Amino acid sequence: MNDEVVSYEIRDRVGIITLRNPPVNALAPGVREGIIDFVKAANEDPVVDAIVLTGAGRNFMAGADIRQFGKARAVTTRASAGAIEASEKPVVAAMDGYCLGGGLEHALACHYRIATPAARLGLPEIKLGIIPAGGGTQRLPRLVGAEAALDLILSGRQVGADEALALGLIDEIAAGDLVEFAAGVARRIASGRPLRRTSLLTAWQDADREKPEIIEAARKTAARRKSPLKAPGYAIELVAASLHADFGPGLELEHDRFSELEHSDESKALRYAFFAEKTAGKIPGIATPAAGDKVRRAAVVGGGTMGSGIAIAFADVGIPVKMLEATPEALERAMERIRSTYETRVQRKSLTPDQMRERMARIEPVSRYESIGDCDAVIEAVFERIDLKVDIFGKLDVVMKPDALLLTNSSAIDINVMARATKRPGSVAGAHFFAPANVMKLCEIVAGDATSIDTLGRATAMGKALGKISVVAGSCDGFAANRSRAPLVTEMMLLLEEGALPWQIDKVMMDFGYPMGPFAVSDLSGLDVSYDTRKRRAAADPTYRKLHVPDRLVEMGRYGQKNGTGWYRYEKNDRTPRPDAVVSQVIADIAREFDIPQREFTDEEILHRLLFASVNEACKIIDEGKSFRASDIDAMWLNGFGFPRHRGGLMYWADGVGAPVVLREVQAWHDRYGKRWKPSPLLARIVAQDGRLRDAAAPDTGTLPSLVRQPSTPGTTK
Ligand code: 3HC
Repeated sequence: MNDEVVSYEIRDRVGIITLRNPPVNALAPGVREGIIDFVKAANEDPVVDAIVLTGAGRNFMAGADIRQFGKARAVTTRASAGAIEASEKPVVAAMDGYCLGGGLEHALACHYRIATPAARLGLPEIKLGIIPAGGGTQRLPRLVGAEAALDLILSGRQVGADEALALGLIDEIAAGDLVEFAAGVARRIASGRPLRRTSLLTAWQDADREKPEIIEAARKTAARRKSPLKAPGYAIELVAASLHADFGPGLELEHDRFSELEHSDESKALRYAFFAEKTAGKIPGIATPAAGDKVRRAAVVGGGTMGSGIAIAFADVGIPVKMLEATPEALERAMERIRSTYETRVQRKSLTPDQMRERMARIEPVSRYESIGDCDAVIEAVFERIDLKVDIFGKLDVVMKPDALLLTNSSAIDINVMARATKRPGSVAGAHFFAPANVMKLCEIVAGDATSIDTLGRATAMGKALGKISVVAGSCDGFAANRSRAPLVTEMMLLLEEGALPWQIDKVMMDFGYPMGPFAVSDLSGLDVSYDTRKRRAAADPTYRKLHVPDRLVEMGRYGQKNGTGWYRYEKNDRTPRPDAVVSQVIADIAREFDIPQREFTDEEILHRLLFASVNEACKIIDEGKSFRASDIDAMWLNGFGFPRHRGGLMYWADGVGAPVVLREVQAWHDRYGKRWKPSPLLARIVAQDGRLRDAAAPDTGTLPSLVRQPSTPGTTK
């Protein structure tokens, strides 16, 4: 008997099987075995009439242990779920917190399901490039019908207890103590009706067989989405099979499909991405901040596009936020911008009018600095002008309570400049959101030279509370995210001068898996955005390599979607990018003007040239201690730049190509194009040591990587 990760006790003729594998009771080795053993023991014990399956702590079970994928398992989820369903004595699932993946599949195999109001149920396997493998694809349609099953399996979304009850996924919502409640139900079932075995239910099957359009609609939607993953197609095939095949053959098919997917490159990449994101918020040397340190009230200074988005991000997760603007007119505009964002959501039905009212009520417009002094965190989100920021941080220093986080959303200005404007530099850090801030998941937390570890920890936790992936970076030009992407942007512009066309490059990147090509993205954000920065850099650095093509287009008044012409041309009220002969002509003119030799590029060369430039830069960033680890760069690219998730992330993908190939090509381009391609010493070391890019980490200076070598600043933060 395995009594370490699963425990068993008898309470008044009910055997209680409790999963004990904190924090989320994942199906680690021993859990499935424990379930099988205790179900058997309860069945053989004459003093037990019924069984309750539950989870210790706040969760039922978050599914299979993702670290165990690809490894041999002694016992499958199919087997432990099968043992539950086959039990002669009723098994009641008592669910609190997360009940996901294999966790829900065990519950589906129970004869009765009870959940607390706080339970979250779902089958998120699709997000890992796999399908449920514990009978979920066969039991769920039999329990809730094919349409609801397809929705849950293909979206991977979680449902709350009320929705689960309405769907028929659970039988009851618990009142009072969950296990006591479930034990009472278990006793009742034991003395009465025959057991309801999900695999034998036929009512939905009979009804769904009459509606082939359900499966057809799912197939059409999947075809339209053009997912690079195999899992959605297999999931539809399996739900279709559940309507026609018996349970046994359906289970066999599920097993075969899962075995293939488990070993697929796409699933390995998605599993890597899961852990990259979990690791991203971790700061070596500090634990999670205490509850008392949480941001419960926030303020945003500056209500432009970014500031409004940040305020919405707070309001969306229930954190009250004050919006501070310099003038009543600007404040009015900011609140109008926020209202209009919410109205669009209501129109799209992703929000109800009541929810909109609640969220708007959480955003308080204020016009005096004194009004925000009691907030736990303030985020400055004004124009990128140093004098303005210095002035604001001086004012914040005066009004904010002593332990407040003083954060800046700057993407370009050195954090140390803002920190020096205060008498508490330890409390100052960057909280760099990506536009639109209420949508994009990346929140780059930037450490200045004096930022305390506590500040970093609390800011990181704040990002997580906003539903973001917080990733820590050091202060340098562009920080870690934009700095690592900048070489890609440079190369895409220079490729044009050598003979590639924007639509050719965009197609390569979309074929790779990006939802949009980089030139189409540039049209969306506006070509003019980076024009001034380039001019500033060129003025400051005589060796700066000018990017003639975008400069010329901006000078011609081609700003992108906002005025109908950019890299592409756009028809009125239509966002479809159309190749434009004017752009081809501008490119050809520049090539002639600067006497640049023209040639043709293969798709592979384009892809490698863009992404290797960034891999090389990412290695420099890590080597300089501006990012803790390579997987942080991957988390940033996945959540800030739309990098295709099924490729894991920039560094993970590059490992697939091979670090020696990256180095060889970087060296060749260095010989050809000069210093911008200087190979990173870290890249060379990884190759020399036969290592992996994804394992690269910042140098350790003593106990902590260089990024956080400074101790906490006493008296500034908790
Ligand atoms: N396997 C291994 N570790 C897991 C895990 C899992 N399924 N789920 C969570 N963890 C770990 C996390 O890595 C983290 O570890 P750390 O503290 O060392 O970083 C810890 O548990 C806590 O997780 P979170 O920080 O993510 O906690 P949250 O409260 O933010 O989120 C969660 C909890 C919603 C459960 C989230 O962790 C999650 O989505 N987990 C994955 C769930 C999942 O995909 N389950 C399906 C697995 S596939 C399956 O079941 C196959 C089946 O069909 C056979």
